Amino acid sequence: MIEAIQFKLNDKPVSIETDGERTLLWVLRVDLGLTGTKYGCGESHCGACTVVMNGDAVRSCALPVKDVKGKEVITIEGLEKNGTLHPLQKAFIEHNAFQCGFCTSGMIMNAYSLLLKNLKPTDAQIIEGMDNNLCRCGSHIRAIEAIKTAALEIRGEKKI
Ligand code: FES
Ligand code: FES
Repeated sequence: MIEAIQFKLNDKPVSIETDGERTLLWVLRVDLGLTGTKYGCGESHCGACTVVMNGDAVRSCALPVKDVKGKEVITIEGLEKNGTLHPLQKAFIEHNAFQCGFCTSGMIMNAYSLLLKNLKPTDAQIIEGMDNNLCRCGSHIRAIEAIKTAALEIRGEKKI
């Protein structure tokens, strides 16, 4: 059913008319041109499509867009502010925490939500929090280091 759907996306109001059963992933990528959010498995397993909704990491491949009404969504495109990358983006670059990069936006958005809730996570908490974001290039160890570095910068204890 075609319906009007309004939500906030990367700090700006968005209004679309579409079938509310379509997934947020395809609305972001096809209708709104935000291709930083990736399609991996399409079945809620890999985490490549992760965005943040009202502070929580969600899998946009499994989220009907009607469920986003009135919510606040942040995608990888929304992290940079006034030309400055987010500490997580800078730290992933500094630590070379990717190879092909296909999982990276999902990893960063999952980590963003994790750090919103806990700015001083232990290694074990990071590993547990990132466990379901898969990387076929094997960048997990460097991603964990990047998340620790980003947390330090956000806490004002390190400059990247
Ligand atoms: S594409 Fe959504 S979890 Fe894999
Ligand atoms: S960097 Fe290639 S899948 Fe993670």
